[in-house]
Amino acid sequence: MERVTAVVGATGLLGGAICERLRASDLAVRALVRPTSAPDRVERLGAAGVELRRGDLKDRSSLDEFCQGARAVISTATSTASRQAGDSIQSVDLDGQLALVEAARRAGVEHFVFVSFAPMEVDFPLQRAKRAVEQALMRSGIPRYTLLQPTYFTEVWLSPGLGFDFLNAHARLLGRGLGRLNWISFEDVARFAAAALENPRAWNAVLQLGGEEALGQLDVVRLFQERSGRHWTLESVPEQVLRERFEGATDPLQRSLAALMLHVALGGPINPGPAMEALALRPSRVHDYVERVLAGQRGSLVEERP
Ligand SMILES: NC(=O)c1ccc[n+]([C@@H]2O[C@H](COP(=O)([O-])OP(=O)(O)OC[C@H]3O[C@@H](n4cnc5c(N)ncnc54)[C@H](OP(=O)(O)O)[C@@H]3O)[C@@H](O)[C@H]2O)c1
Repeated sequence: MERVTAVVGATGLLGGAICERLRASDLAVRALVRPTSAPDRVERLGAAGVELRRGDLKDRSSLDEFCQGARAVISTATSTASRQAGDSIQSVDLDGQLALVEAARRAGVEHFVFVSFAPMEVDFPLQRAKRAVEQALMRSGIPRYTLLQPTYFTEVWLSPGLGFDFLNAHARLLGRGLGRLNWISFEDVARFAAAALENPRAWNAVLQLGGEEALGQLDVVRLFQERSGRHWTLESVPEQVLRERFEGATDPLQRSLAALMLHVALGGPINPGPAMEALALRPSRVHDYVERVLAGQRGSLVEERP
């Protein structure tokens, strides 16, 4: 019988894209879902032929059952956006992920793909949790590990939800908008995750994932302006304010979110070349994202016409 790839975080943005990609290659996929997971996301997984299993990273016995018979485990889960009662960086991103690594080892899983993020200079609870899980996975005795360390997702950080309001041609810049990052589409991270299962160059490897160009928020505003001919208005959150928010935050989640924002202001390019070379994949460009967004806007204008 074909052995299954078990995905934790499948009801999220990245995990959902990974499941769809694996199903498109006709691979057997199992997803961990919770009673509180978004019903439309659960339905979509079911419709794609994904086997649904109830569980929670805070419930160790559910993880043992979830890993049984799995060839590989991919974990994209995080408590940062979709938190339920009892979810926290400590209980989910740290203890829950460590429990999953241990459950996978006990179940004889051959390969564990963990989605972390590219190292940042600022020290904060989410980064500490990610690094601790990375270390535990490397030492776990699971025959193959892949640590994926993407930078910031284009569709999340360059979207209206986080102040990059392309609908109204307005941006809230973090700092002066000059911090350069190798933004990456979550769809590309999904491609790398799926490829890592099959490609030995991704086994027992740490792969930093990002787009080839390092751009500041202001560069992306310029791209939108050039491609749409529409002038953007700007506001900015001064770097000093971001630093004070980070230093003043006592709650681990607030401190982590403040750190992530501060890092956007400071910037921190990575070298995505080795991962691209190892997996023979080339991520899309921010230009492509801009084109997609603008095409969508034009599309919706057309649809609204009587
Ligand atoms: N956003 C970025 O720019 C970025 C950049 C680099 C790396 N990353 C990493 O990429 C990964 C995926 O991000 P994403 O945007 O796909 O996240 P997301 O959309 O918020 O999805 C989070 C997933 O984690 C699950 N989860 C949360 N608590 C859980 C628990 N107690 N037990 C089981 N599952 C739980 C959620 O399940 P429910 O639906 O049941 O709540 C959901 O499926 C994360 O690890 C993140 O750190 C993100």
